Order: sequence, then C-alpha cells, then structure tokens
Amino acid sequence: MRLVSAELNLSRAEVYGVVSFYHDFRMAPGPVHQVKLCRAEACQARGGDGIALCFENKLGVRLGEPAVGDVVSLEACYCLGLCAIGPNAIIDGALVARLDEAKVAKLAAELG
Ligand code: FES
Repeated sequence: MRLVSAELNLSRAEVYGVVSFYHDFRMAPGPVHQVKLCRAEACQARGGDGIALCFENKLGVRLGEPAVGDVVSLEACYCLGLCAIGPNAIIDGALVARLDEAKVAKLAAELG
C-alpha cells in the first residue's frame, strides 16, 4: 500500500474516502464566492423557494450545479439553527438571516 503521507500514515484511498464524503472538502480549488442557502423546512415555509429562485436569477447559477466561471456557487444546506428568522444563508462563511428579494439583489450585486 502506497502512503500519501508518511507523517499522517494514510493511504491515498483513505484520503480520497474522506475528501469525497464531506461536501466541504474539494479535489480542486472552489469558486471565489460560495452561497449556501438553507433549504430545510422552516426556511422553505418562510419563502425559501422564492429566495432560491431569486438567487438563481441574480447570480446566473442553478442551485447545486457547478459554479459558472468559478466565481459563485449556489449550494443547498439544511438548517442553520436560525429557523425563526429565515430564510437564511451562509455567504462566504458569514450567516445572513431574514433574506428577502431586496437583500438577495444587494448581496448578488456585491458577489457579482
Ligand atoms: S430551517 Fe433554515 S435555519 Fe432552520
């Protein structure tokens, strides 16, 4: 068995298994900006479907599809623990709550 790192004592298969299992690990550099939109039930009940559509239209990417030009990705996540003030998202690592169409338009312009 060939080891990826003698210091870690891990095989290539073990490293690949971890990287391919967790969504936050990547095999190549990710997009410049990352939008993770909560798609769980409470955020959906508070207008999450419209917010998802608004993000898709403003950013020019489809939810869950690869980023266009490696600039912005739009991904789903499930419950950020802020259900009462949704719909919510994590944008470049920062929580954003109480999303509405005006806020999405402003955020998308900043990311674009
Ligand atoms: S359902 Fe979106 S934060 Fe809980």
